Amino acid sequence: MQDLADKRIIIGGGATGMGAALAVRLVKLGAKVIVGDRNAEGLQKLQPELEGQAGKAIPFVFDLSDDASIEAIVRRCVDEFGGIDGLAIPAADTSPATMAADDTVLKMDPAIWERIFRINVIGPGMLMKAAIPHMVKAGGGNIAVVSSGAAYLGMHYVPGYASSKAALNALVRHTARLCGPDKIRVNGIYPGRVVNDRKPNVPEARPEIVNMPATNALRRHAVPDEAARILCFLLSDESGWMTGQIIAANGGSEMRD
Ligand SMILES: NC(=O)c1ccc[n+]([C@@H]2O[C@H](COP(=O)([O-])OP(=O)(O)OC[C@H]3O[C@@H](n4cnc5c(N)ncnc54)[C@H](O)[C@@H]3O)[C@@H](O)[C@H]2O)c1
Repeated sequence: MQDLADKRIIIGGGATGMGAALAVRLVKLGAKVIVGDRNAEGLQKLQPELEGQAGKAIPFVFDLSDDASIEAIVRRCVDEFGGIDGLAIPAADTSPATMAADDTVLKMDPAIWERIFRINVIGPGMLMKAAIPHMVKAGGGNIAVVSSGAAYLGMHYVPGYASSKAALNALVRHTARLCGPDKIRVNGIYPGRVVNDRKPNVPEARPEIVNMPATNALRRHAVPDEAARILCFLLSDESGWMTGQIIAANGGSEMRD
């Protein structure tokens, strides 16, 4: 994926997990990256891994649920690097508090659903809205989001989260169709269970998720870098004939055409 060298890329949600692994991989490949996250401490901890590499990474504290903040991260990329070629959006509200409160539809709390949709769907949409005109100016670009098998699985818990990921998939397909003529490709992955190496499990997190057994074909969970590799593929010209797709990269947890 040599073509990622010098590419100007924003990561929305890069302090921990798959976004952090992606940031590390991209700077090693020579990309110029704005690593955005609301977790300032996480960004600070990650920074040493991003330094001394072929590319350049700039940490940026921002909140995907805040429109002014979204404008600010896009402006930072343009001011610093002169434009935008790529956008990755791994962020979602997966906080234990939200996951615990995202109960069955019979106990549905509109405030929780509104918060989840604000971060997981409206935020990515607004970030795309702000970044796409700069990709058009650059002659094209690539967008990659992180979705979830929850969108398809019909799980009996976290219905707000699952619905938000289904909506994110629809947003990917809409944007891919809309922006294809401008040479902008939009794709995503759904990664199965990924064990987060930079964020310890907290006691109030949902046990159904934390203790999920690895019943997939490979009989193990993924590490964030395995998702990051596929995100790199989607952000590079190697995937140039793909758009509007949500790739199942999930150890064969369920198999779809
Ligand atoms: N870990 C899994 O097993 C798993 C499985 C399926 C899908 N996913 C999806 O993968 C993506 C990444 O998950 P992860 O496990 O790497 O989690 P993570 O929590 O380590 O990474 C998400 C990052 O997004 C940031 N973030 C959250 N809300 C934000 C906001 N409002 N503004 C800015 N940054 C914000 C967090 O601070 C965090 O750094 C998420 O979209 C999640 O829904 C994860």
